[in-house]
Amino acid sequence: MTTAEKLYEGKAKIIYATDNEQIYLTYYKDDATAFNAKKKGTIVDKGIVNCAIASALLQLLESKGIPTHFIEKKSQREMLVKAVKIIPLEVVVRNIAAGSLCRETGLSEGEKLPSPLVEFYLKNDDLNDPLLTPDRISLLNVATEEQIKELQTLARKINEYLREFFQNCDIILVDFKLEFGLDKEGTILLADEISPDTCRLWDILEQDKQKRVMDKDRFRKDLGEVESAYQKVQQRVLAQTEKLKNS
Ligand code: TMP
Ligand code: ASP
Repeated sequence: MTTAEKLYEGKAKIIYATDNEQIYLTYYKDDATAFNAKKKGTIVDKGIVNCAIASALLQLLESKGIPTHFIEKKSQREMLVKAVKIIPLEVVVRNIAAGSLCRETGLSEGEKLPSPLVEFYLKNDDLNDPLLTPDRISLLNVATEEQIKELQTLARKINEYLREFFQNCDIILVDFKLEFGLDKEGTILLADEISPDTCRLWDILEQDKQKRVMDKDRFRKDLGEVESAYQKVQQRVLAQTEKLKNS
């Protein structure tokens, strides 16, 4: 398969067309941004690590019956995916209070939520990805009521599978962001990536509040040892994936 034109370049990935219009090729970069790209940097080999982690997690979810865009890991940094039109929503699931939830509600970081919280943000950098209400979602026509219900159901299921998987890696899944797309038939597929860039992951084996952080918060908050944290996540995710394959 030959790659053709670049369709889209995001902050962390590039999407290319392929000679099959139903298939895109995503290339994972080392670029890291935070605070809507106000902070920019590089996390060495992040593209390789995130491509490996995202491939493993998307395959895991497929095996549980979640429809995803994943087709095949093509190389260290490349993944073949089904062509979808991204729904311009960031679906955030939270199990434990952290990040913007603490800043905006006064909840303390680390507080366990009574049940998982599913939130929708508008995927729009110019507007700083604002939190949406159900009425604003219908006002903006970004998704139908039925699609929103399906996204909530999928997000909750994905959370249950990922939470259990990460627990078995000795990692707490604090929160994460998902993106979904529509294929040609209008079917909703889980798209984009799931990686330390898009999740908050805390090491169960570390008590120290800074040392336990294994995700992009290390970059956002200048905590150092970003690469080694990402690699640790990769090692544990791939080891657990192997374990599941052999069980
Ligand atoms: P938040 O607490 O900053 O709202 O982030 C919630 C989760 O979403 C966290 O796991 C990080 C992830 N996230 C992204 O993947 N992309 C983003 O642009 C933002 C703001 C958060
Ligand atoms: N990915 C987002 C950005 O650059 C924000 C973040 O992950 O904190 O800008």
